Amino acid sequence: MPENSELTSNYWNSRYLDQNTGWDIGHHNVIHTDYVAHIGDKGLHILEPGAGSGYTTAYLYSQGFYNTYALDYASAPKNRFLERNPTFPKEQYLTQDFFELDSRFDLVLEQTFFCAIDPQQRVDYVNKMHSILNPNGKIYGVLFNFNKNEGPPYGGSKKEYINLFKSKFNIIRIENAKNSIPQRQGSELLIELQKK
Ligand SMILES: C[S@@+](CC[C@H](N)C(=O)[O-])C[C@H]1O[C@@H](n2cnc3c(N)ncnc32)[C@H](O)[C@@H]1O
Repeated sequence: MPENSELTSNYWNSRYLDQNTGWDIGHHNVIHTDYVAHIGDKGLHILEPGAGSGYTTAYLYSQGFYNTYALDYASAPKNRFLERNPTFPKEQYLTQDFFELDSRFDLVLEQTFFCAIDPQQRVDYVNKMHSILNPNGKIYGVLFNFNKNEGPPYGGSKKEYINLFKSKFNIIRIENAKNSIPQRQGSELLIELQKK
């Protein structure tokens, strides 16, 4: 396990270059894409932070959600993403630190980004999400539901997440996810949080 101080863009980039990417499910996540399809508003500004291979971003773009952005501070996954998705506008895959982002979105899709950051940064995560969301904007996606103080991935619980988000977000739901991929069944919470 790396020390928390070693969780840098270089650390993550090396993991991509070494193909040491056990988190990568290899396809877009229907938990996200079904939700976005259900909203149906193709003008939504959507962000997939810590996107890595960005399958969900690519899929949504292919479905006409042209304001979908990926963000990751590791450069290796972006290069592969653009090779796989040559028609995707490369400026919509942002290579930068999430905590320095200064843009606005209506919807942020969470999958294995929160669990990848140093737990000391969780309050910063909440504050940054709040600042990049438009009024009534939402975070939708999955958070892990297990105890794990050494990571990544770092764990957490429903109680902890409610305490963390409640001052800045209305908790629409934090509940056991039903449509997790088989290897994550029973270990994910579905979250829908709306900016206060
Ligand atoms: C566990 S991986 C998950 C990747 C992707 N969400 C997936 O499910 O395949 C975590 C990702 O978050 C990125 N990341 C971690 N901290 C970041 C930060 N502060 N800013 C931008 N990206 C970050 C890493 O480079 C890595 O690609």
